[in-house]
Amino acid sequence: MDRIFSGIQPSGEIHIGNYVGAIRNWARLLDQYECIYCVVDYHAITVDYEVELMQRRILETATILIACGLTPEKCIVFVQSHVPEHTELAWIFNCVTPIGELERMTQFKEKARQHRQNINMGLLDYPVLQAADILIYKAGYVPVGEDQVQHVELCREIARKFNARFGETFPEPQVILSTAPRILGTDGQAKMSKSMNNAIGLLDPPSIIWEKLRTAATCPHRERRYDPGHPEHCNIYTMHIAFSKPDQLEYVEKGCRTASIGCLECKEILSKNMSEELIPIQNRVKGFNEKPEYVMEVLTSGADRARGIARQVMEEVRTKIGVKFGGLETKS
Ligand code: TYM
Repeated sequence: MDRIFSGIQPSGEIHIGNYVGAIRNWARLLDQYECIYCVVDYHAITVDYEVELMQRRILETATILIACGLTPEKCIVFVQSHVPEHTELAWIFNCVTPIGELERMTQFKEKARQHRQNINMGLLDYPVLQAADILIYKAGYVPVGEDQVQHVELCREIARKFNARFGETFPEPQVILSTAPRILGTDGQAKMSKSMNNAIGLLDPPSIIWEKLRTAATCPHRERRYDPGHPEHCNIYTMHIAFSKPDQLEYVEKGCRTASIGCLECKEILSKNMSEELIPIQNRVKGFNEKPEYVMEVLTSGADRARGIARQVMEEVRTKIGVKFGGLETKS
């Protein structure tokens, strides 16, 4: 079976962009692939964060993953810092990655703009650690949202550079995009994001979801109720694609184009569908919150399983780069 790796940062509220762009897709891939999913805490410390909250956030994030169906029977779920081979391999990758490649990463430029007072080495090096996350498991596929495609391309390049210098070792992983790889925020402008205050939380109750959707931006070309709209320019329609059934999609699409339905009716249908999908997940999260020791157990055994693979690959890497005593002899 081909192997998948993907990760999510424990940096606050998980939103529906994370869900439809990544997590829901991760669950859909469980039967076809051997899947490894990770809470990437070392990535989350590249920006300012509250130390006292970190542990809770790691657990909350892991709990949501499990509640979305990423159970230990079906995949490996673990925390990045529990498998130190990730950072070890990242160091080695640092030595084959040109700085120029990192400086041109869109996410680095965006984050450097947002966090001017703390443009640290980790922020620049973020994609190298991401490449190590993926390649320490020799994963061939990486399901992510559209914003991460550039990072996976760099990962492929790092694999190529390593292989060219030290011999064929790593695959060149491919991206798997979901049907909703880029969800904008309720402002209809920026990508939905924890930091932009434009997110609908995965754990938001129906009343909050409705409040956020009711006031959310719609098609910018539809100023009045009887103006025909353009669903392809409307973020609410993008969310419909992610949450609504085909017959409802057709209804809102046609209704919008012909102005036979208003934005409010369109949003009501979406709000109902979104809540219906999220409520069972929220209920499972509540159940797991009552037994945090279960989540801890899942993470501990997940890290053990992940480490079993990571250790072996690290041994191979140490041998290939010539630092392992006796390594070259075993090779010949
Ligand atoms: P993070 O936590 O920022 O995002 C987690 C996943 O959610 C997707 N995503 C979105 N998809 C659609 N629309 C949105 N508005 C939206 N916002 C976020 C992201 O694309 C991502 O798939 N760098 C990664 C974490 C990571 C990783 C890895 C991923 C670390 N190591 C190795 C894959 C493989 C990230 O963006 O996390």
